[in-house]
Amino acid sequence: MSKIKVGVLGAGTMGAGIAQVAAQSGHKVVLVDMNEKVIESAKEKLRKIIERLIEKGKWTEDFGNEVFGRIKFSTIMQDFTGSGLIIEAIVENIEVKHAVFEKLESIVDENCILASNTSSLSIAAIGAVLKNPSRVIGIHFFNPAPLMPLVEIIPAVQTSEIVTKEAKLIIDSWDKVTVLAKDTPGFIVNRVARPFYGEALRIYEEGIADFATIDWAMTTLGGFRMGPFTLMDYIGNDINYTVTESVFKAFYYDPRYKPSFTQKRHAEAGYLGRKSGRGYFDYSENAVQQSPNKDEELGKKILTRILVMLINEAADALFLNVATKEGIDLAMTKGVNYPKGLLIWADEFGIKNVLNELTNLFEEYGEDRYRPSPMLKRMVREGKNFF
Ligand code: NAI
Repeated sequence: MSKIKVGVLGAGTMGAGIAQVAAQSGHKVVLVDMNEKVIESAKEKLRKIIERLIEKGKWTEDFGNEVFGRIKFSTIMQDFTGSGLIIEAIVENIEVKHAVFEKLESIVDENCILASNTSSLSIAAIGAVLKNPSRVIGIHFFNPAPLMPLVEIIPAVQTSEIVTKEAKLIIDSWDKVTVLAKDTPGFIVNRVARPFYGEALRIYEEGIADFATIDWAMTTLGGFRMGPFTLMDYIGNDINYTVTESVFKAFYYDPRYKPSFTQKRHAEAGYLGRKSGRGYFDYSENAVQQSPNKDEELGKKILTRILVMLINEAADALFLNVATKEGIDLAMTKGVNYPKGLLIWADEFGIKNVLNELTNLFEEYGEDRYRPSPMLKRMVREGKNFF
């Protein structure tokens, strides 16, 4: 069976990576950006990436040339004609996305799937402008797309079952781990991961520990690859803050997702993280590194508090059928490299212990932010585990 032609719209951070993944998997790809310079630079960058893969012996020269030759770099959407799947990865703005989805539908034929890589907009809203909205779907990659195995597949209320099945089959064939997620704010990963940042910031704000100590607790004691502050500096405080704020607003200001002033001030000050040379940590050449307070008891307290908040979020996502329990655990390990799935971690920690920790926080602070998910209460009552 010949492979469908794949269109990718937007050749920025995500689009260029997605085009590479599709071409590696044998598809003819058309990568379109309205900006000529962006398209030229995407072409140059991909050439360099392929050269490096060949140098390292990961790809043969022939394979590299084949992959590169499969991608057509263009500024004209009309080149999408004949595609079986289009993945949109342009600016995160609903009006702009509406305009391009309307245009896309006029270019491709009836059975072309129209997907968005959006992180924060609803797929239902994006599809609403289509004449045939049953073909819209969310296909959400993680950055960098060629390296991160997870892809969230998000059918909207309008999406047909056939389109969901086909989209999943195509992305599975790209050697990705796909997980179905409900069309709800943040889908799985960007929702469940919020406390990793938010609770760490809160612990800092209360003066319990500094950035370096919190990061030490989460990496050395928790096994996370990066501590929350190092990770926020890596993502960029401006971007991470915006995601938090958009999830918070989308959840009708649920205090669970409340953004942090500390992060906002860092972003406002231009302390964006690595990209600006300074975030929570200083990345300049001769900077003196902060040293953590390696007090085990304090470290465990920090880890436990952030972990139970993460588990609570994962349990609540399951409670509200955002995804299956397997899907939620896969999403966090394959999309953001957590050392363990949160629900299996909950089983190991003991559901009762998780609930106790949360109940203590809830009583201490009296804030809705700490309310335990009904899922956990039910499980304790019935003596159940997730797995
Ligand atoms: P980006 O800013 O790097 O790239 C966007 C590209 O779209 C730009 O090159 C721009 O010239 C082009 N563009 C804008 N309007 C266009 C139009 N009407 N027609 C053709 N091209 C147009 O953005 P990035 O970071 O790649 O994000 C793209 C999408 O992917 C957004 O929806 C974002 O929410 C989502 N996303 C981003 C992730 C990230 O880590 N950056 C992760 C997962 C999803």
